[in-house]
Amino acid sequence: MPAKIKKVSDEELEVQRQFAHKVNELTSKRYSSKPLACVVTYGCQQNVADSEHIKGMLEAMGYGFTEERTEAKLIIFNTCAVREHAEDRVFGNVGALKKYKLANPDVVIALCGCMMQQQHIAEKIKKSFPFVDLVFGTHVVYKVPELIYSALTKNRRVFELPDVDGVIAEGIPVKRDNDKKAWIPIMYGCNNFCSYCIVPYVRGRERSREVEDVVAEFKSLVDDGYKEITLLGQNVNSYGKDLEPKVSFSELLCMLNELDGDFRIRFMTSHPKDCTKELIETMAECDKVATHLHLPFQSGNDRVLKAMNRSYTREKYLSLINYAKELMGDELSITSDIIVGFPGETYEEFCDTKSLVEEIKATSLFTFIYSARKGTPAAEMDDPVPYEEKSKWMRELLALQERISGEQMALHKGKVFKCFVYGKGKQGDNYLAARTDGNLIIEFVGDEGLIGTFQKIKVTEPLTYVMLGELERNDL
Ligand code: 5AD
Ligand code: SF4
Repeated sequence: MPAKIKKVSDEELEVQRQFAHKVNELTSKRYSSKPLACVVTYGCQQNVADSEHIKGMLEAMGYGFTEERTEAKLIIFNTCAVREHAEDRVFGNVGALKKYKLANPDVVIALCGCMMQQQHIAEKIKKSFPFVDLVFGTHVVYKVPELIYSALTKNRRVFELPDVDGVIAEGIPVKRDNDKKAWIPIMYGCNNFCSYCIVPYVRGRERSREVEDVVAEFKSLVDDGYKEITLLGQNVNSYGKDLEPKVSFSELLCMLNELDGDFRIRFMTSHPKDCTKELIETMAECDKVATHLHLPFQSGNDRVLKAMNRSYTREKYLSLINYAKELMGDELSITSDIIVGFPGETYEEFCDTKSLVEEIKATSLFTFIYSARKGTPAAEMDDPVPYEEKSKWMRELLALQERISGEQMALHKGKVFKCFVYGKGKQGDNYLAARTDGNLIIEFVGDEGLIGTFQKIKVTEPLTYVMLGELERNDL
């Protein structure tokens, strides 16, 4: 590993294990029964993965878990900073804990995640939310045992928000939310500085986990029976560029595809600037890699893309999509993220976004109205279009995509998909729910014993957001 990537040392990890042990001793003296923790996660899959590590460490400290805040001795909010709405929700929910904390002073209230990594937010928590005991940032998640120990023993509030660029901690415990579907972060941070985005400021520069560490974690998940494993990164296409020797993301996918076992590999997010033909070819060739490409384009207009600092054009984006369609045909599912109402965007420019949506025929879209993030270049740009107008544009976009999704679904009637049966369905008591490679949901009547297996399912009736189907055969 090159010198610039700092891996948390074994000694430091051992120190944390000792703190976990000390918390265990302390809480078993302090509380008459096993203390419960309530961990609430906002935002993206990276946060979900961080929370699974936080829960793993809490478990090692002797905590059990509850979804009920009023049963918990420890409440942790893992927050998101990507849009203002997400932050408002956190402030509302933290405010609602005040009464509980006043009535139960021994309860520890902790906040972490991207939102806390912004200085003005940490200041606000310090001043206006005095009942919050512990605040920690995105670069010190591995220190949770020490931080909880401090919060339990020191008679003062703990703020641990180093602005150092992140480190990589391997081998910290993890408690996964699901026993068939798992997340593996393969890299952290982002170098792209899209002009609207707060992520590079709160998650630091890109750093890749070593190939051996990723492969070992992947293998152990397959051995434990996990079937759908999603590789995570803000920009997975730049995985491995910082490793010595360099490895490409396509090479990593090929290595994982070679492993024995019945599983499906997913990944997100790809950046069109770094998405290569090689990656698309790898997706088409590797049978265990899902033919699902989440490739956010954000805007279909070249001037807006430039102002967003996205470093690609509409034409380059389309050429990638067309190549993927050429190689994967009907099997391919495309999803994308779009921002509506970037500062200075005109209605004509927004219409270019709609025409791109029309052209790519995505399975589904994640659409967001632009939200100004303090400290980003876009927050300083003129933003003359009122929110009501942007909402109107958003409704147009949603209506368009609803039509396209419906048309796409209708094309699937009679087709057979290899699906992962992930749970009970919603269409009726005896329905099961399964996911295609392309992340489409098919519900079908079947025995609960099929949950957790791959099956071939034939679509009988496509509805708008879900399809009905029947089991084709059981011998996959
Ligand atoms: N306002 C609105 N949407 C945003 N996103 C990121 N930053 C902002 C912002 N400031 C969206 C982008 C990104 C997704 C995860 O969130 O579409 O791809
Ligand atoms: Fe944000 Fe752009 Fe990085 Fe994605 S690639 S996290 S949108 S800066």
